[in-house]
Amino acid sequence: MNAKLEELKSWYETTFQAAPSVMAWAPGRVEFLGNHTDYNLGMVLGSTIDRGIIVMMTPRKDQMIGLASTGKDHPIVEVELDGLEPLPGDSPVSWVNYPLGVLKIMIQNGMRPQKGFNIGIWSDLPEGSGLSSSAALETASALALGKLYGFVFEDKYALMRTGWRAEREFVGMPCGILDQTVVIFGDADHLVSIDCKAELAKGVRFQGDYQFWVFNTAHKHALIDSFYADRNAECMGARDVLRTVEPGIAGLCDLSPAAFEPHKGLLEPVALKRATHIIEENARVRETIRLLEKGAVQQEAIGSLLFQSHRSSQHLFENSTEDLDFLVDTLERAEGVYGARLTGGGFGGAVLAMTTPEFGEAGAAKIRSAYAAFSGRQIEPLMVKAGPGAKLL
Ligand code: GLA
Repeated sequence: MNAKLEELKSWYETTFQAAPSVMAWAPGRVEFLGNHTDYNLGMVLGSTIDRGIIVMMTPRKDQMIGLASTGKDHPIVEVELDGLEPLPGDSPVSWVNYPLGVLKIMIQNGMRPQKGFNIGIWSDLPEGSGLSSSAALETASALALGKLYGFVFEDKYALMRTGWRAEREFVGMPCGILDQTVVIFGDADHLVSIDCKAELAKGVRFQGDYQFWVFNTAHKHALIDSFYADRNAECMGARDVLRTVEPGIAGLCDLSPAAFEPHKGLLEPVALKRATHIIEENARVRETIRLLEKGAVQQEAIGSLLFQSHRSSQHLFENSTEDLDFLVDTLERAEGVYGARLTGGGFGGAVLAMTTPEFGEAGAAKIRSAYAAFSGRQIEPLMVKAGPGAKLL
């Protein structure tokens, strides 16, 4: 890591003619279980991974912000500190929306830097793989900005809300709190259990003999963001119908499967499928937390809940794709796989598998070649491990 940091500092110095005064790191995340339950105010389990994003900063003397990334070939992007507006999503430098969005929210919260700054980014998170490079970039940017200007976030939740609001209000993605919360609260050997209604996170110990593998399909639907927004709207529509008989519910996850049962007839077929997925998924997360809190890791039982989650996404929430289904089908037949499911928003992205330690590189290589034969795409399976949450370096 130290050699890497030295290399990054020298890249930054060449790019911005000054050594970085602040550096912050934030990891990517996997959604372990709890698909689209977050904005339905339910429970979700996530894990940090041992890859992430580094943000480096120095103050400037003018009112401009300069942004550059080691991974991109284009020159420094420059924008004015005041009047920040998001770049269109299809801009080749739309990644700048994440740090700029965070800055805009911080300014709204009374944290306006007197002058501009330069910001340089490095990442070892494969882009577009559903490992939440966006939340990592938001969180590392907020930490670095806080440090550079002496702005204090009241607590980790205030830091989380800054990135989350940037994503919703600046980037325009109506997401829940999963990504930013995991990135901030994650820890080695733990899953982060989030109660999205209470906005409370806690670590649940998850030790034992298993590996996590991420198989990125390397293919996502062009309309991924609008599909996500559609699902969000369908869930809110179903919730509004159910409120006519259960006025006390804030989100779909306020209903247990048993409490939902007598009201199913109120929903039209699509809304019924969406609500059933969310309410049953929330119950699966609760069951997994119960199993984990019992102590010993119950890989088989938890793995089977992961497979159930995927089938529910595939048939009820309809946010899976042929590629994701192929990977899960193949993993389900493979030796040494406890469970597998699409992780994150869906409509492309990656599958997370929980495997035995023996599965290893050889097991992953078999899945890779099967997927290459099926899709024509070569992918690099990643073994990931839970690690520390976001921090200043
Ligand atoms: C994306 C969003 C999260 C969550 C998941 C689906 O990752 O950013 O807030 O909704 O999809 O569970």
